[in-house]
Amino acid sequence: MELIEVREGLARILVPKAERIYDAPVFYNPVMALNRDLSVLALRVLKSKNALDALSATGIRGIRYSLETPVEETWLNDISGEAFNLILKNVELNLGVKGKPLGDKRFVFKGEKTLIVNHGDANWLMAEKFRYFDFLDLDPFGSPVEFLDTALRSVKRRGVLAITATDTGVLCGAYRNACLRKYLAEPIRGELCHEAGLRILIGTVLRYAAKYDLGVGVLLAYYRDHYFRAFLRLESGAKKADKSLSNLGYLWQEESGRFAYEMNFLPSKSGAFGPMWLGPLKDTDFMEGLKRELKEFEPAHRKTLPFVELLVNELDVPFHYDTHALARRNGLEVVKVSEVIEKLRELGYSASRTHFSPTAIKTDAPFEEVIKAMKKRG
Ligand SMILES: C[S@@+](CC[C@H](N)C(=O)[O-])C[C@H]1O[C@@H](n2cnc3c(N)ncnc32)[C@H](O)[C@@H]1O
Repeated sequence: MELIEVREGLARILVPKAERIYDAPVFYNPVMALNRDLSVLALRVLKSKNALDALSATGIRGIRYSLETPVEETWLNDISGEAFNLILKNVELNLGVKGKPLGDKRFVFKGEKTLIVNHGDANWLMAEKFRYFDFLDLDPFGSPVEFLDTALRSVKRRGVLAITATDTGVLCGAYRNACLRKYLAEPIRGELCHEAGLRILIGTVLRYAAKYDLGVGVLLAYYRDHYFRAFLRLESGAKKADKSLSNLGYLWQEESGRFAYEMNFLPSKSGAFGPMWLGPLKDTDFMEGLKRELKEFEPAHRKTLPFVELLVNELDVPFHYDTHALARRNGLEVVKVSEVIEKLRELGYSASRTHFSPTAIKTDAPFEEVIKAMKKRG
């Protein structure tokens, strides 16, 4: 495999030379630098002592965690032999020390920090390291569901689980049967599909966690570049699990674009989408922490900063109105998002842009008021 060196954050990484990223024998996607930037920031806020990058590919993620955050012991793992060998090279390059074998599938590198590189199935490693990790990162191809059970047992009972899901087509209803199979949830299509997909993903983790008497609190969850990402804080105890489950519920949407939702374990009427998480998508203290850390941070991706600002300023209420979809559905002219927000604020409602779509708003105003605000002034 021909390798080239790239820089991302404080890391130097050897990656395979390839025409297209999915042709490479070991996966590296520079677009995901924003995802890794946010994860580095999250780890700085959380001050976790140890972390697992369970599906490492080139090792870029775990190496950045080790170089750019207070984490003292980072574990990196991949099932692919080519990835494992490349991770070993990359760790040596960044730490400047040689690894020592621990058995035939594991190397330990001790510099200022400790890095442990493992070759194997993530489910095996996570089963071995029972309640061990403060921070556990699942960044798979597609859905994280096949790793959820072992991840929930491997992370400490008050630890943080970070998950990426790139199967947006499934969670957004393009492949409904796959969503029913993997997430046991009915997906919605149309303008609410991304937010609902993210909420279905969180709702699934919640249900997996509940059986271990674990509750789930959302530190931050977002959609970007065709993937979902969630940082989830586990909370120990049956009462916490019950409280989390009370945030599960269902969504309905009419032809006009009007939506309704209810928190309930079972839907009270037909035509429901879900179950899904209906609680907050961000935690105030955590977001404050991110803002603080951003001041001392050199992002690897040029969009990281504006994206965090967008997330910070976004009103945290379930679902949103897409101005283009509302116009199409109700025979209205398209109005600028900023104008609709301004009109709603003048009427005393809260309203903001949303990261789910540049043409959408989040608001606590009722549907009729949004429609009024969509109509031209005068
Ligand atoms: C999307 S890539 C990871 C990207 C990486 N985290 C990053 O930020 O660049 C997914 C990786 O998971 C690995 N993988 C797939 N199934 C696995 C399993 N059961 N156990 C461990 N690794 C696995 C693949 O070999 C691949 O390298």
